[in-house]
Amino acid sequence: MALILGIETSCDETAAAVVEDGWRVRSNVVATQHDLHARYGGVVPELASRAHLERIGPAVDAAVDEAEVALEDLDAIAVGNRPGLIGSLIVGVSAAKALAWSLNKPLIGVDHVQAHLHAASLRNAPRSDGSRDMDHIAQPPDPASLAHATFPALGLVVSGGHTTLYHMPEPDVLEPIGRTIDDAVGEAYDKAAVILGIGYPGGPNLDKLAQYGNPAAYKLPRSLLKPGSLDFSYSGLKTALLYTVRGHPQGRGPDATFLRSADDLSDAERADLAASFQAAAIDVLITKIRRALDQCTEVGRPVRSLIIGGGVSANSRLRSRARDLAAKRDLPLHLPALAYCVDNAAMIAGHAHRRLERDDVDDLDLPALATAKR
Ligand code: KG4
Ligand code: ZN
Repeated sequence: MALILGIETSCDETAAAVVEDGWRVRSNVVATQHDLHARYGGVVPELASRAHLERIGPAVDAAVDEAEVALEDLDAIAVGNRPGLIGSLIVGVSAAKALAWSLNKPLIGVDHVQAHLHAASLRNAPRSDGSRDMDHIAQPPDPASLAHATFPALGLVVSGGHTTLYHMPEPDVLEPIGRTIDDAVGEAYDKAAVILGIGYPGGPNLDKLAQYGNPAAYKLPRSLLKPGSLDFSYSGLKTALLYTVRGHPQGRGPDATFLRSADDLSDAERADLAASFQAAAIDVLITKIRRALDQCTEVGRPVRSLIIGGGVSANSRLRSRARDLAAKRDLPLHLPALAYCVDNAAMIAGHAHRRLERDDVDDLDLPALATAKR
């Protein structure tokens, strides 16, 4: 049995987790900073790194306690060291190095985006008192790990920073085949929530509100780019929503004025707009997945499963549409349990397991990198 402590501080969640053998989650502590950033409508990097400093020690203590292990029992320390906000990453990387050095354990730096595609293989370990949380019960009984998923796979990472399709010949090999040319889909959700006046965090709020609206109420654009393109573009959808809510601007740039504001919307209009935005945003993802599956087959690289990860994989419409598509294509679908869609440290610890098995570990000069090496 291998026990890995994972640390994740790439954005605004301070997270620590202990994972056994790459998939059995013994603890998953996430200290969110939502309250801290809500009044600014988005993450303020300086506030985030300061909050990570205050929270990282208690988060690690809580993860080890909840996992019912001692620090000495750990086999390695894993940390998300790229990509992300540099000031935030440095806090997690420094904490991981301090632990690895003082405990004399191996250190493993993990790519945050790759880790998102590991999240679907995580399962909660039962507690020693026999209790299991709701999340565990909600998961499929088969404890299939990513190793059991069939490769090659099509991977889709949908988060605040990424909307990327990958051909994955094997678990650790990600070959990008499509990406956003402007906003990431999570970023578009967050901006749409601001436009609709429904606050931060935008994605989950908009998803909830969309349940009460009519997805066909407003016709918003689905930007598919060139025929056959696997890239994404969300800026047109965002602008269309802005103009629908506020009217076309009078004047340009910072002096532009709008006819209306989000305050003029009725509750029903706001819900219809949320539902229509969600329908457009998710339609594009599903169309591109379909295109990617077809193209992989056409070029003789057919995939045998579909893996989705990242914050937007928590989205109710994406989950149900992806399930429908996978069923139609008779393709196994690997979606993370809700707790492992958004940023967490269990995916970091889980992903590091294969590296530890290969003895592929890092030195104490491991850097924090704002952009991924790929
Ligand atoms: O993966 P993540 O936690 O952080 C990044 O790596 O960026 O993703 C966060 C993103 C945010 O943009 C958030 O609004 C979005 O995921 N998100 C959602 C939902 N839950 C989180 N977007 C749509 N529907 C959701 N239910
Ligand atoms: Zn993320």
